Amino acid sequence: MEDTPLVVAVTGAAGQIGYQLVPLIASGSVFPGKKIDLRLLEIKEEFLTGSIMEIDDCAYESLTNVTGTADPLVAFKDADVAIFVGGMPRKEGMERKDLLDANISIFKKQGEALEAVAKRTVKSLVVANPANTNCLALWKATTMPRENFTALTRLDHNRALTQIAQAEGATNVSDVIIWGNHSKTQFPDVRFVKADGKPVSEDKTDFYRGDFINTVQTRGAAVIKARGMSSAMSAAKAVGDHMRDWFAGAEGYQSMAVIPPVGTYGIDTDLCFSFPIKCKGNFEYEVVEGLELDDFAKEKFAATLEELKEEKTTGEIA
Ligand code: NAD
Ligand code: LMR
Repeated sequence: MEDTPLVVAVTGAAGQIGYQLVPLIASGSVFPGKKIDLRLLEIKEEFLTGSIMEIDDCAYESLTNVTGTADPLVAFKDADVAIFVGGMPRKEGMERKDLLDANISIFKKQGEALEAVAKRTVKSLVVANPANTNCLALWKATTMPRENFTALTRLDHNRALTQIAQAEGATNVSDVIIWGNHSKTQFPDVRFVKADGKPVSEDKTDFYRGDFINTVQTRGAAVIKARGMSSAMSAAKAVGDHMRDWFAGAEGYQSMAVIPPVGTYGIDTDLCFSFPIKCKGNFEYEVVEGLELDDFAKEKFAATLEELKEEKTTGEIA
């Protein structure tokens, strides 16, 4: 175990996702081999009292310290990692775009706090919806490197993996790609998938262009309908997967929404867009460049790109 603790801030830590995510981080499974100094941010400090009592009672060996606060300047002080879960969640019947007004202003303010006190190298992951556009707003409020700002599409990626495994009767599925927005315009792309080492079945093309895409795109809403609340267990797992792979590296393609240089896959403005990603370890990644888009893929890519441009305009992000 390395001695210098990783300072990890989690916003919205008393919420549904936070309650499932904090134990993953504190137990050492997200940042293997690192000690953790945990900073929990909430609207009110007392929201965290019970969680902190439980964290103490877990006696996590990798946890050196836990702080609960309502002050972003305390939560983000010297942070190495910041995970932004805090925000208003979507309720039944709402689209992610409905959350734009409420949540973008939070991200502009938290970006200023991050800029003021976090390490210049802080690695950020935005979970709160609309995650991609919140992430863009967060980055724009800082002068930090764009490659250190990401949004969560790993949940969509994981959802797609399971749908494919079930359709193919496969146990090992990899290299699915989520392109674009964490929303119902996202494009889950199976063209490079390996299912037990093979491409997906040709005779299932209609499924993969129809029901499969629809299921993955609308899974968040389906979980809200079934639970009466937005997904939390699977979201926390996906956050853990995203951060662990970014930190430690991973084989194959993962999906992460990132803010690449203008021109990547022809995108003509700064956007937080989900791409196929290779996680190289030590918090380094690269966008997998040069994958061909056929006519079907081009149409899907254009739709999700258009939605992200609209969110950027509506959110008044310069
Ligand atoms: P929740 O309402 O249970 O928890 C959110 C917490 O954030 C609350 O405890 C609230 O007090 C806190 N909060 C609100 N504003 C805050 C602020 N300015 N600073 C600090 N804390 C603040 O919601 P949840 O179910 O945990 O979901 C959290 C967010 O994650 C929602 O926006 C939801 O839509 C989103 N989500 C994203 C994905 C994804 O894949 N990207 C998946 C599931 C949920
Ligand atoms: C999800 O995909 O489960 C979340 O983003 C919840 C939502 O608001 O759709």
